[in-house]
Amino acid sequence: MNALPGRMLMHVFGRAARALSPRTARVCRNTPHSIRGLAGSARPTGLRCEAGLPEVHRAVHIRTVGSGGGPEALELTTLPLPWDELGPSDVLIRVASAGVNRPDVLQRRGLYPHPPGHSPLPGLEVSGHVVALGPSVPLHRLALGDAVCALTNGGGYAEFCVAPHEQCLPIPVGLSTTEAACVPETFFTCWHNLMQQANIFGERLLDRPQPSVLIHGGSSGIGTTAIQLCRAFGVDVLATAGSKMKCRVCMDIGSRVALNYREIESWDEAVLEATAGQGVDVILDMVCGSYAQRNLRALKVGGRLAVIGSNGGYSATNLDLKSLMRKRLTIGGSTLRARETALKGTIASELLSSVWPLFDRRDLRVLLDSSFPLEKAPEAHRRMESGAHIGKIALLVDQPGSGML
Ligand SMILES: NC(=O)c1ccc[n+]([C@@H]2O[C@H](COP(=O)([O-])OP(=O)(O)OC[C@H]3O[C@@H](n4cnc5c(N)ncnc54)[C@H](OP(=O)(O)O)[C@@H]3O)[C@@H](O)[C@H]2O)c1
Repeated sequence: MNALPGRMLMHVFGRAARALSPRTARVCRNTPHSIRGLAGSARPTGLRCEAGLPEVHRAVHIRTVGSGGGPEALELTTLPLPWDELGPSDVLIRVASAGVNRPDVLQRRGLYPHPPGHSPLPGLEVSGHVVALGPSVPLHRLALGDAVCALTNGGGYAEFCVAPHEQCLPIPVGLSTTEAACVPETFFTCWHNLMQQANIFGERLLDRPQPSVLIHGGSSGIGTTAIQLCRAFGVDVLATAGSKMKCRVCMDIGSRVALNYREIESWDEAVLEATAGQGVDVILDMVCGSYAQRNLRALKVGGRLAVIGSNGGYSATNLDLKSLMRKRLTIGGSTLRARETALKGTIASELLSSVWPLFDRRDLRVLLDSSFPLEKAPEAHRRMESGAHIGKIALLVDQPGSGML
């Protein structure tokens, strides 16, 4: 990864955030409680935490009984603060906004259960302020009051959420807290799959000056991130999307070619045409199923397929596996959520050094489709499932003037 541009620039964590008005800190004592019949969780000892935190907060949970997994299964409730989830290396964040992601929809529908040890509540990314730090969070990493965006282990649709300190990053320069909440899940996923797993810049080692990539679902949260990220690093980007308008957005944010898959079924042919018959080095695929064979066809010799979703189903028939040998192709895939904190920490530090400076330079932005108050989480999911959105959807939790907390 040393060849990546922008690598030398380093942020001082929390630089801007420390300008916040000082908050009263204290070491918390163990104060078990029971509020309105809720079994309160014990506050761990040895924490550094803000004074005056409430005993309970509003959070969205997934109602499993009698809900059928529809959007109405998302129910606003009152819960004790999640002290029981807070380990020695974790922080508690007062949430300003939470990002909505397709995996949340799958979790709600019972198709993507939370990994053991993770919060069962939905919400994989937030922005907000640090209000408590576990005793093992290094002093130089974070302080009370720091503004952060964080990849969480669930529980983001809430007023307070726990995240490992390794998964917290400063709010990128120029972004609102709502935009910042929409950064972690897609940037961690795209960076890991494109840069670390598919090693898009491996091509440079082979003396091919410009790698190429095909991004399926180019107008999705993941797609809009992947297109901008690749373009910012000088990759030749091609994308697919499901309407003229979505294709136009893909081109606006850096795709050289955008193919409307509803009009061009043989998009693999179109990819070959657009690349002088060569194909692309890497494909980021969230469709799977019927796309599998066309993906193999659209890959260049030595190409890599990175599977991150299966909107088109899990099984593929009539695969020409000979092309794996003939073209020396590699098929890989991953899901981010269940991966270990150390890996997510590595992704976070690479993002901080290589990608956050691109926000400073306005080379990256968040395409925010819509935002909804926390209690309208079912509406946010309906919007996502309609497929009408372009870019990201956010939940507004603690916004100035909202009077929510
Ligand atoms: N593996 C991981 O770690 C990881 C992490 C995060 C997300 N993901 C996956 O990445 C995908 C995008 O997530 P997101 O949060 O950005 O969701 P999103 O904004 O709702 O995007 C879903 C995308 O899937 C496309 N799509 C759905 N069915 C399709 C089909 N049959 N053919 C072609 N395209 C189809 C849609 O394209 P059109 O609108 O153009 O039809 C849309 O752009 C999801 O599959 C999600 O599960 C994986």
